Amino acid sequence: MATLRLGDHAPDFTADTTEGEISFHDWKGDGWAVLFSHPADFTPVCTTELGRVAALKDEWARRDAKVLAVSVDAIDDHHAWKSDIEEVGGAAVTYPIVADQDRRVAELYDMIHPGEGDTSSVRSVFLIDPKGKVRLSLTYPKSAGRNFDEVLRALDALQVNDSGPFSTPADWRPGERVIVAPTVSTADARERFVDVEEVTPYLRYANAPTTT
Ligand code: BEZ
Repeated sequence: MATLRLGDHAPDFTADTTEGEISFHDWKGDGWAVLFSHPADFTPVCTTELGRVAALKDEWARRDAKVLAVSVDAIDDHHAWKSDIEEVGGAAVTYPIVADQDRRVAELYDMIHPGEGDTSSVRSVFLIDPKGKVRLSLTYPKSAGRNFDEVLRALDALQVNDSGPFSTPADWRPGERVIVAPTVSTADARERFVDVEEVTPYLRYANAPTTT
């Protein structure tokens, strides 16, 4: 599979998970999906990451996002590892973890980068929108844990982008002002959006609608 690009349709798959077999597109339904891989079970960084994702359960739900973890380890290992994740994260693991022993999902989503040491997956994240399009991807090395607050912030930004047309400036946080997309004239923006400020002819801020 060629590298997935932003705007591509997220490929479907069926897989064994800790919550039973799932068919990705059916499981995702009409909401958002956060598909993320990690290298291996019973490893330190991964344990903190999966614990953090578990602790953010209500935050994913508030954004209509389902999370799905992937690694190439076996289902029995995933089940056995869960209690460590729960102890470290302080929350139950309620999302499925794919047992991708034949590496089908990892190859479909280009999650194996041989230069990173071995044939386990690196730390990939795909944000997939309600229409099934890949809207954002992140790739971290095995040694560096991800910041899931940033994943939530990026999800918020995408949802605000779609409610416009708006863009979001550097370091944008929910509740802050957004940028009117270049496809909308300032005159139109003043009719459609609240409190439009023209900083330059191409940089126009407006109040954002509340999303979360
Ligand atoms: C970790 O989760 O700590 C880890 C896993 C694989 C390679 C390096 C680090």
